[in-house]
Amino acid sequence: MYSEKVMDHFENPRNVGEIENPSGVGTVGNAKCGDIMRMYLDIDENHVIKDVKFKTFGCGAAVATSSMATELVKGKTVEEALKVTNKAVMDALDGLPPVKVHCSLLAEESIHAALWDYAEKKGLTIEGLKKPKSDIHEDEEEEEEY
Ligand code: FES
Repeated sequence: MYSEKVMDHFENPRNVGEIENPSGVGTVGNAKCGDIMRMYLDIDENHVIKDVKFKTFGCGAAVATSSMATELVKGKTVEEALKVTNKAVMDALDGLPPVKVHCSLLAEESIHAALWDYAEKKGLTIEGLKKPKSDIHEDEEEEEEY
């Protein structure tokens, strides 16, 4: 059912953890399955993503897609990272079963949410970036389970 790459990123997820004082952090949730993904970005003055970490409270495909998404955005500029779509993440993982496509969307949205947070903090406008619909604000996180 899952490709070798999905299994690899599920069993050995890259860039798990958190970043202290991140340039941007985004948390998104899927209302249907209840899974949550949080993405931390460390962005330098040239708008390059120097470091990225994630935490996923979710299914195996969510872990694998967020892991792959971190690999794809690391070292990229903010503008390039914005172009990393859920499809790009799925392609890099050699595909996902149709019922798991929404998990990859969570990866894309969590990056967008973290970029949105960065742009807000810096007072920047990043062309083409919209606030993700499933963004969860800090004050709405009380029911989150760790
Ligand atoms: Fe919801 Fe995978 S089942 S993120």
